[in-house]
Order: sequence, then C-alpha cells, then structure tokens
Amino acid sequence: MEKMEQYEREHFDTLRELAPECAVLLKRRGDFPLEAPGKIALYGSGGRRTVKGGTGSGDVNSRFYITCEQGLRDAGFTVTTQKWLDGYDAVMNAAHISFIAGIKERAKREHKSPFILGMGAVMTEPEYDLPLEGEGDTAVYVLARNSGEGNDRTLSAGDYMLTGTEIRDILAANERYEHFMLVLNVGGPVDLTPVLKVDNILLLSQLGVVTGTVLADILLGRAQPSGKLATTWAAAEELPKLGDFGGDDETRYKEGIYVGYRYYESAGVKPVFPFGYGLGYTDFSYGAARLELEGHRVQVTVPVFNSGAFPGKETVQVYVSVPWGKLDQPVKTLAGYSKTGTLLPGEAQGVKVCFDMAELAAFDEEKSAYVLEKGRYTVFVGRSSDDTAAAGAVELTGDVTLREVEHVGGKPDFEDWRPEHRKTAELPERAKVLKLDPGAFSDIRFPECAKPSEKALETAGRLSDEELILMCCGRFSGSLGIDGIIGSASLSVAGAAGETCGSIKGIRGLVMADGPAGLRLAKRYYIDKRGVPQSVDSTLPAGFEELMNGASKMLIDLTRKKPTEEIRYQFCTAIPIGTAIAQSWNTELARSVGVIVGEEMERFGVDLWLAPALNIHRSPLCGRNFEYYSEDPLISGRTAAAVTLGVQSRPGRGVTIKHFCCNNQETNRYCSNSILSERALRETYIRGFGICIAEANPAAVMTSYNLLNGTHTSEREDLSAVVLRREWGWRGLIMTDWVMSVVGDNQKYPVALSAPTIAAGNIFMPGSRSDWRAALKELKRGALPREKAVRCASQVIDLVDTLG
Ligand code: BGC
Repeated sequence: MEKMEQYEREHFDTLRELAPECAVLLKRRGDFPLEAPGKIALYGSGGRRTVKGGTGSGDVNSRFYITCEQGLRDAGFTVTTQKWLDGYDAVMNAAHISFIAGIKERAKREHKSPFILGMGAVMTEPEYDLPLEGEGDTAVYVLARNSGEGNDRTLSAGDYMLTGTEIRDILAANERYEHFMLVLNVGGPVDLTPVLKVDNILLLSQLGVVTGTVLADILLGRAQPSGKLATTWAAAEELPKLGDFGGDDETRYKEGIYVGYRYYESAGVKPVFPFGYGLGYTDFSYGAARLELEGHRVQVTVPVFNSGAFPGKETVQVYVSVPWGKLDQPVKTLAGYSKTGTLLPGEAQGVKVCFDMAELAAFDEEKSAYVLEKGRYTVFVGRSSDDTAAAGAVELTGDVTLREVEHVGGKPDFEDWRPEHRKTAELPERAKVLKLDPGAFSDIRFPECAKPSEKALETAGRLSDEELILMCCGRFSGSLGIDGIIGSASLSVAGAAGETCGSIKGIRGLVMADGPAGLRLAKRYYIDKRGVPQSVDSTLPAGFEELMNGASKMLIDLTRKKPTEEIRYQFCTAIPIGTAIAQSWNTELARSVGVIVGEEMERFGVDLWLAPALNIHRSPLCGRNFEYYSEDPLISGRTAAAVTLGVQSRPGRGVTIKHFCCNNQETNRYCSNSILSERALRETYIRGFGICIAEANPAAVMTSYNLLNGTHTSEREDLSAVVLRREWGWRGLIMTDWVMSVVGDNQKYPVALSAPTIAAGNIFMPGSRSDWRAALKELKRGALPREKAVRCASQVIDLVDTLG
C-alpha cells in the first residue's frame, strides 16, 4: 500500500471499519463469506478500473484508492485473471478514443462546446469478447458504472441496462464457478433483471479510498455488509412515467409527492429490490412491537434477535400509513428508523424508534398550512418498505392545523397525479390503537424569523457601493476562467472551489472546497512569488483536457504552473459517496465520516465544505444521484444533519448544504425549469433541508442552478427570506451554485443574474468582474435596493464572526 501520513492512515482505518455498513447484500445463497483467501477469478468493468466515486466537482483528488484487484491481492488472494484484466484495459482504451472523438464531432455538429457536452458524459460500456479462463473455484464479477455533473444517465445498455457482454459473462461465470459473487460498484441502480438468477449479489457501491479493501473484508467475513437500499431498484420498464425527466427547458414533476416507494406502492408496481431492502450474512427475527404515545411523540419498541450464524446489524424501519382525507396520501411513509449494534448469533436487542406525529403533516395548498387530518395512522414495523407488519395505530380524533405559512415556489400548469384509490393494510384485530387529541399539539413552537446581527448590518452599511457588491460576490481576480468553471476558483487554497471576498475593512474571506465525497483540493501546489498557492497538476476532471480544442489546450499549457518553489501536498481522503452513506441507515456513521472531512478542512485551511448534497433521487437517471442520499426526504435530511454535526464539531468549520432546490436532473442544468406543485416542493424537495437545518444548523446553503416554476431558485426571495429565514429561523450564509454566464446563450431561459440574486439575499458565486459590474450598475441606478445588498453582505460578516 502507498505511503501515507498519519492522518491519512487514521482516516483510512476509520473508513475501513465503517464502510461495510454502506454495502448492501442483495442476494445470498450461503456460500459466502469465504473461509480463507485463495485463487480468485476477477472479471468485470470494476475489477481493475474500480470507481471510487463519480466524476465532477465531487471527485476527490485523494493520493490513491484501493481498487478491487488491489484489495483482493492485499488480502492474500491470488487473482487468476491477469490476462482478462489486461484485455479489458485494451478494449477500454480503444473505446475511450472513439468516445472523445464522438463528443467532439457532436459539438461541431450542434455548435456547442465540447467541454459542456463532455461534462459528466457517461461512456457506456462497450461490447467485447474476452474468454473467461481464470482458474479456481471462486469468482467475482465487478460491474461498475460511472456518472457525474453535467449529464444524466440513460436507459441504454452499458448504463442503466446491462450490455449483452455483461449478461453473457455474468451468467457464464455464475455457471462455471462454485462460488460466484456479482459485485456492483455503482452509484445508483442498474436493471438487474437479466441476471437475477445469480444467487450472490453485493451492492458494494463506491466507497472512496477503501473500496477494494472493504470488498475483500466482506468476501472474507472480516466485515459484515449491513446496508439497506435508500432508493428503490426497479427494472427499466417499471420506472415511473408520470412526470417528465431530462427535458431541456421544462421538466414537469407531475407525479407530485409520489416519488420512489411512495409511487411504487401506490401504483401497485413491484420493483426488483424495494426501498429499505438489504440482507446481511446473518438473519434477524423480530419480536412483537410495543407502541407508546407521549404527547404527540410515538415510540415503537421492537426486540430484534440474531437468529443466524454470523454477527450483524439490523435496521428497523417504521412506516406510517397516513389517513387519506381531503388530501391523498401514499400507502406508507417512512417515519423513523434505528439500527442495532453488532449482534452476535443468538444475541438480541430491544430497538427503539421514535418519531413525532407532527413530522407526518401534509401540506394543504388551499389552506397554505401544514395539517394532520383526523383518522387512523397505522404504524408498521418493517425490514423494508415492502416487508412490513402493522404494529398498532394512533387515532387522531380531530383535524389539526399545525402551521399556517406563506405560499412559496409558484404554481405549475397541471394538477399532480394521485392514485385512483387508497390501498391500506389491515390492522390486526387485537392491535393497539392509541387515541390522540388534537389539543396535544398546542405545545409546538416554531422558530422566530432569523435576522442578521445589528453589528453586521452596521458594518455592511458603511461599505462603499463597490465594496458592498464585492462582499456580495465571490472573490475574483479577473474574468471567470476555466478554473472557476470546474470549481477551483479559490485564490487562497489550491484547488478549492472559491471564496468570499477577502479583506474588506478587515473582514477575511471564507474559503470553500467541494465535496461531497471528501474534500476536493489540488494534491500538489506551490506558493508563487506573490504568495498565491498554485496547483501543480491540472484540476480538470479526468478526461477533460482531451475535450478541449487546440486554442484552449494551448492556453492551459501556457498557464500550466511551472513550479519554481517547494512543492507542498494536500492529500484528502475520498469517503463513500452520499448514496452509500445513506445506505448505512446509521447517523453515527455519517457523523464520523463528517469528522474526517472536518479534520482535513482544519489541516488545509478550508472554512466551508460545499456539501453535503441532498437532492432527492427523483429519477434513478439523474447523473448526480450518487452524490445525493435517497428518494426519501427523512433519510436525506437526517443523514445530512449527521454529516453536518460531524464536520461542524471541528472548530471554525462549516458545511454548505446543496442544491436548494429541485436540482433533480443534469440535462441543461444551468437553465432548466423544474415545474412542480407547492405540496411536492414542501413535502418532498425541501423537507430534507428543513430537517438538516433544524437538527444541525449548517453554516451555509447553496441554491441550485435550475429555475423553479419559471424563476431561478437563486433569485427567489420566497425561498431565502420566507422559507429559510422566516419559517425555519435559520441565519446562515446563502450562496449560489457556481454560475457561468457563458452557458446562457441560445437558451430559452437565461442563467441567473447577479443583481436579482443579491436582492434575494444570496451571495453570487464564484464571482467574476462582469457579475460584479452588472450588480453595481443596478445598485447605482436604484434597481437593486441598497438595503437588500446590505442584508446580503451582512450574512458574510456574521458567518466570519461565527466561524472565527
Ligand atoms: C456544482 C456544485 C459545486 C460547484 C463548485 C458546481 O458546478 O454544481 O455542486 O459545489 O460547482 O465546484
């Protein structure tokens, strides 16, 4: 293994211990774990070319990571398929050349930038014919997929679907080897229908630096996979077709609140693997659940017993069937979950899952209020959304209007889909029904509207117009160049994504670095004569340079830093992707992962991490889903909160939860318009952000690129001033995503603009001279009210003060 510094070693070891909990055993025959390492035939796209995490701004420049091949060798296996792996390398190298040529050709044809077309473009798996000759009675086929920022996945073979080659080879290896495991090194679902015959399937996921090590640990039973799916895995033809996905200009979320399992259950469609599903090496049996009510808080206690032959952990999930009154409701909604500690065979633990009935409130658009309708709330205990047993019910004896709020988000031009009729599970006759009086909710208090401090308002108020707008934009040194576009616009820390304006009236800049799969910085840098850190290596994502035309390539070469000074290093740890962390269903684990990031931020002088990312997995085809947690807002919000608490446990470090909101596709990500109802917005797309804010008080929020019902989210005062400040009482820093004005040409909608963004109380990132000039002009002619700019700038001053 590579030489590492002490902190890297410690972070590697911590992740090695934690990450098996993120892996999900989807099928199991009982012939794994293996007794000892021996000969192993390793096949598949991820065998040697293992994916540690997707591409784009979330791709962490770690010193190294352990591939599956390496992990197996390190664990003492003899890999018998050197020839196959070399052959596959040759196939991929050739395919890559034609892939790049294809993007360049398309760019020419469509008069588009190859750079933008290539960003996150997925090279689908090629077909090939390599004999499966590896020796031994054990084989592993690692199927990998990659995706990222700028492009969505497709329903084609080699992406969501398996290729003919993959199906043929997986089925052949399954026949040929006595012990065979299909391992999925993917960031999101693939359609496994053609290979469901395989008896051992492990969703390893993409686990950052420890990916291959954890695979070997799991195969050998040195670690137990105990993850459960945080997103439904469905066959391609079962994917919902109610709303649009991937439209260039407009995307209508016609499915409303019926996303993921809420859709599958309500529409009566059985997915391949349901939400919440996952096996371990061992089995668990559940005793009778006990339901208690204290005020409006419900506690479910379930005895869980390890009835199998291996140690393991189990996640108990609690779902509630909310009564369908005036408002339609999905069959079930996740209300809470809790994971056991490691239980040895024969061991038992009483698991408690608590939730507040208030969290089940629905949004009534007519009343513009969160409401609980009277009726029976049936409580289910489940191993997955599809495998539940009713544990009892809470009978709410009258309607409750929990909170009246202002309308936000605008209106769609359609009515949301709703199921034809309600499906419910029967409550067993002797099940307990607890009565809840609406008066019980009278003790609920909501936060006060958050305001900037008087001191910050005063300081911002004393700034000149020029300084004020500088404070409201990210720090720039010239026009926004290539570095800004690909998220390394910081002038203080090499490879960091950007920073707020530094040192006006003694107020320092805040340095921001990307995530979410760790801290994205340049690995090597030096300090130039002016004292500015310069990256030695290109900070372009892999494959990008090949997409550039002659002129821009020359420019990059000319500006490529020639180190004249001592080289310094910033090796950061690639942690598991967001989806994998959510699959652990373990908030303590998520917190520990956050601590790793927080420690590295301290070490390298980064104030704000541009993560966690918690957009909803609305469609499995969103190219950035791997960065996000789940299709369910509760697990998304809780996981984000736990990661936030971990990062922010380090003094002076803050997170930036993103992308607020409805950034659920990558196609035309800068200018696509997400059209949805206020109910869907509130119950599905912003709920997780609200949970994270209430539980963990993140330092910052990043708005999304897209529009929401016709207006860019970054320009929507209803999201910033109303939802974030007034409803949620949150006082942190609001910033935009990294806006690139160059992509706005020839679009139905223009990109977000600096003046209306600042007016909405949002710092314009990464900042450029032209954005600054544009806002200044609006300020001078009175179109951008000075008090709004002062408010916007004051949030930077307040955060500098908080972080110290
Ligand atoms: C991404 C953000 C990222 C930012 C800075 C944008 O393109 O959408 O998630 O934080 O770049 O790199």
